[in-house]
Amino acid sequence: MSTLVAGIDSSTQSCKVVIRDAETGQLLRQGSAKHPEGTEVAPGHWWDALLEAIEQAGGLADVSAASIGGQQHGMVVLDADGEVIRDALLWNDTRSADAAVALIAEHADAGDPASGNAAWVRMSGTLPVASLTVTKLRWLADAEPENAGRVAAVALPHDWLTWKLSGAARLEDLATDRSDASGTGYFDPNSNTYRYDLLAQALRISEEEAQKIVLPKVAGPGEQVGTGDASRRWGGLVLGPGAGDNAAAALGLGMSTGDVAISIGTSGVVSAVSPKGIQDPSGMVTGFADATGEFLPLAVTLNGSRVLDGAARMLGVDHEGLAQLALAAEPGADGLTLIPYLEGERTPNLPHATGSFVGLSLASMNPQDVARAAVEGLLCGLADGLEAMTSLGVPVESISLIGGAARSAAVQQIAPAVLGREVQVPEPGEYVADGAARQAAWVLSGEAQPPQWRTGSVQTFTAEPTPAVHEAYAARRGLHAER
Ligand code: XUL
Repeated sequence: MSTLVAGIDSSTQSCKVVIRDAETGQLLRQGSAKHPEGTEVAPGHWWDALLEAIEQAGGLADVSAASIGGQQHGMVVLDADGEVIRDALLWNDTRSADAAVALIAEHADAGDPASGNAAWVRMSGTLPVASLTVTKLRWLADAEPENAGRVAAVALPHDWLTWKLSGAARLEDLATDRSDASGTGYFDPNSNTYRYDLLAQALRISEEEAQKIVLPKVAGPGEQVGTGDASRRWGGLVLGPGAGDNAAAALGLGMSTGDVAISIGTSGVVSAVSPKGIQDPSGMVTGFADATGEFLPLAVTLNGSRVLDGAARMLGVDHEGLAQLALAAEPGADGLTLIPYLEGERTPNLPHATGSFVGLSLASMNPQDVARAAVEGLLCGLADGLEAMTSLGVPVESISLIGGAARSAAVQQIAPAVLGREVQVPEPGEYVADGAARQAAWVLSGEAQPPQWRTGSVQTFTAEPTPAVHEAYAARRGLHAER
């Protein structure tokens, strides 16, 4: 009988579970359940969705190991009894934007504001923005001091779910991995240590007090976590450390140095495997870690597939209709550019910005050009991220397009034109859950490397490069001051 593993993706919108054969990676069963909308969510909803998705996937009774990949950065604060203190603030909640500015300023030398940026990337690899957990903790300390005073442990969504799945009751049993820890802002992925001084700074407490707060133990890649309780509840289930969703997707895609993934889900993410940590004081590229012991620099936009959702809604068409309209227009949309900062933006860091159509004329005021401008604007935001990566020396040899919006014919055909490079589109799949499943198989095997699983088919898209489209976008987004 074959050995089965489960991979879980607890994402912003839903929870997905895949059950795969540990040796071959063959997909055997799957399930999914929705999460509530909003940027502030009671973690109990994720747990309920996880149980529902597990049931839909046929349960875990015959499964030997499981790992959870999850949306990064969400702040889950627990009291001394292990109870959730308040709803989790998610990565796309921008209320801590001012806290980010304050945290950076507190490290700047007098008369040299840029030194604050340099200090943060040296200490934690990444410049804090509203998405990062450290800024959410500062917001908590200032806006809800009573809640902040009760914090006995801080976890991320995937750490908390792994802990729940393990059935553990002690805060000390919380565990995470290096990829997700590196997105907190109080972990240094170069030395693999927590920075309790930064945790203390965020919560406005002494470092001695911060040391008493439990942070999840950072397990090594491929290391088992969890306790005997998990085994009892789920019939001998072994748990992996899990990963942040982007690192799990990299594992699911089998990415190595030179491979870049562009994922267009709720967020738009450009990620690349790098053998060395990136330090970008401009904040365009994060210095995050991956799930195999290397690094995974990311450029993350807040405005991903919802740019297309909004454009389709505005034009009164479905996604296929939007793609047809966009493909019926010429590159450059008759001079129309969409700057898609519809929910503020994170890369570049403009948390309070709104979007704009620029260059609207009688020639471009038609559904085709509006649709084209939406697709091009979404892709130009990602092209900015890719450009920032290459300028930092991150190797870029191949680009894979994944996530819900990668299924759009317009995105597939326009991406190689805007990016000026060939683009591969792997067959649609749950790459985050797949990466988690591959990690679970890795943990079970006890080997130094994850198992080699057969990869699915890939379609290649090429197009005549249209550099003028990104140039027009770059000129216009430069005028787009924070408002
Ligand atoms: C990464 C990030 C998002 C979330 C959402 O930094 O904020 O990609 O992980 O999935």
